[in-house]
Amino acid sequence: MDGNGRWAKERGLPRSEGHMRGAEAIERIVETAADMGIRYLTLYAFSEENWNRPSEEVSALMLLLRHYLASKREKMVKEGIRFTAIGDISTLSADLQNEIRTTAEATKDCARTTLIVALSYGARQEICRAASKLASDGVRDITPEMFSKALFTAGIPDPDLLIRTSGEYRISNFLLWQLAYAEFYFTNTLWPDFDKIELTKAIDEYQGRERRFGMISEQIK
Ligand code: IPE
Ligand code: MG
Repeated sequence: MDGNGRWAKERGLPRSEGHMRGAEAIERIVETAADMGIRYLTLYAFSEENWNRPSEEVSALMLLLRHYLASKREKMVKEGIRFTAIGDISTLSADLQNEIRTTAEATKDCARTTLIVALSYGARQEICRAASKLASDGVRDITPEMFSKALFTAGIPDPDLLIRTSGEYRISNFLLWQLAYAEFYFTNTLWPDFDKIELTKAIDEYQGRERRFGMISEQIK
């Protein structure tokens, strides 16, 4: 979800305003995704590298996340949105960890869509962690399936589509393992402006892609 800062700058507003409008976009997109029948939606809200931003911005983002979870929890339950977080949650404040736990617990039986929010997340760190875990469990002859189960995303299917907003063409340490066969979609639209029309465009384009998984066209017809 990139482009909050630029959205604010274009309007002469503080970056925090961009993040607030970005949070509104989250609500819209989660609703739209659930209506479209998308079963899993992962949002990259805060990377491990984002800790290096100015401390006022980090604090504003953390506060926003806390408020978001606290104020949207009931709505998520009503709309059948199961919430879960991935990332090094232990680095977050006790208050935010508490909101995460409470929201995950309150929505655990929701079955329409699973919303996965990546917080203090880094894919390389996740991969190293999984490798360490398997090593300390004494696991040998590791298969991709075993490795997948050692990641934060255990039990969550690999993404079919990755959308990056704001005209950047990078993965930025996001789901490096899980995106092996994902389709990529890039748009210049800044995240606060990303809406149902934009999501529909991305899905339309995705539906026109031929996913061969290493095979040839004739095999998958
Ligand atoms: C949101 O956009 C990403 C978050 C870390 C919340 P940015 O804050 O990266 O916005 P730009 O890239 O400065 O426009
Ligand atoms: Mg950015």
